[in-house]
Amino acid sequence: MDITKVLVADAVDASCVDLLKKFSIQVDCKYKLPKEQLIAEIPNYNALIVRSDTKVTADVIAAGKNLKVIGRAGAGVDNIDVKAATAKNILVLNTPGGNAISACELTCSLITTLARNVVPGAASLKAGRWDRKLYSGHELYGKTLAILGLGRIGKEVALRMQAWGMRTIGYDPIVSAEDAKKFNVESLTLEQIWPQADYITVHTPLIPATRNLICSAVFNKCKKGVRIINVARGGIINEADLLAALNSGQCGGAALDVFEQEPPVDKITWELIKHDKVVATPHLGASTTEAQIRVAVEIAEQIVALTKKSKEYSVGGVVNRDVYDKLKL
Ligand SMILES: NC(=O)c1ccc[n+]([C@@H]2O[C@H](COP(=O)([O-])OP(=O)(O)OC[C@H]3O[C@@H](n4cnc5c(N)ncnc54)[C@H](O)[C@@H]3O)[C@@H](O)[C@H]2O)c1
Repeated sequence: MDITKVLVADAVDASCVDLLKKFSIQVDCKYKLPKEQLIAEIPNYNALIVRSDTKVTADVIAAGKNLKVIGRAGAGVDNIDVKAATAKNILVLNTPGGNAISACELTCSLITTLARNVVPGAASLKAGRWDRKLYSGHELYGKTLAILGLGRIGKEVALRMQAWGMRTIGYDPIVSAEDAKKFNVESLTLEQIWPQADYITVHTPLIPATRNLICSAVFNKCKKGVRIINVARGGIINEADLLAALNSGQCGGAALDVFEQEPPVDKITWELIKHDKVVATPHLGASTTEAQIRVAVEIAEQIVALTKKSKEYSVGGVVNRDVYDKLKL
């Protein structure tokens, strides 16, 4: 594929630009362009690289007369209109594995933080109080962690939390019970999971089948005091239902890194974020030095691979496989 000019529209680690330039690909970095300006600039480029800030909408794609590739330095392509790109035979790439360890480690730290009331305890001490009794927690040892979605991140979470002595159960429609057993996860149906879980962590994509996966009906089937963690995508847990469950005590605590709207605007989302039993972080799952370098390098490698300027790299993050096959790359 002939790719000579790349626009980097979000602040991707410099290692991305360095690698592209090493292969004589011209790169311009223009961050936070207003939409009209992006539309004006996009015809000058063969490839566009974004993180999550730039929304690659149908009108941006329509303006990309010379656009051949849209690459997302990260997992998921929520900010890219893949349908519009596919209709124009524009290849969409992402870097699915690049931030899995970072998202997993944040999940594990949120689970441990919830168990020991680290955030409210620390805030209370900073405010000058010495509330030892108020923030007494519980051990994770012997508790049951349910993992919904046993892909890259879910599996890594299981392996780490087993080291804390947690029993790990899970559900994933495409991971067989036999495969789950290889990383010590007992594969169960959702109906079997709800009454057994002390903690539920979600690691699925946001798709129609997973929207509102955790809702009032589910809370009613869970143990009283179940704790919920979402480092996947906002919308998998119904925010209004979670708030109601926290207020009734049916849910004993939640840790949220992602929200239905980001940045949050909705009153319910803010009530959740400010809730005493909630630890909330501003979508920090992939925000580590290591993950940012990894995804930056991975997206650049895939673009270099498309140009066939190196045999060292491969195109591992194709989102619209039909386009890839059609282009016979
Ligand atoms: N917070 C962050 O910054 C951050 C960082 C990285 C990834 N993520 C998100 O984490 C999630 C998981 O990422 P991953 O890399 O592990 O993805 P993955 O594709 O490796 O795994 C996802 C798994 O979910 C399973 N799944 C699909 N539908 C399901 C359902 N209805 N019930 C149960 N499981 C279902 C799939 O079969 C798959 O095995 C994604 O939503 C991703 O966007 C968030």
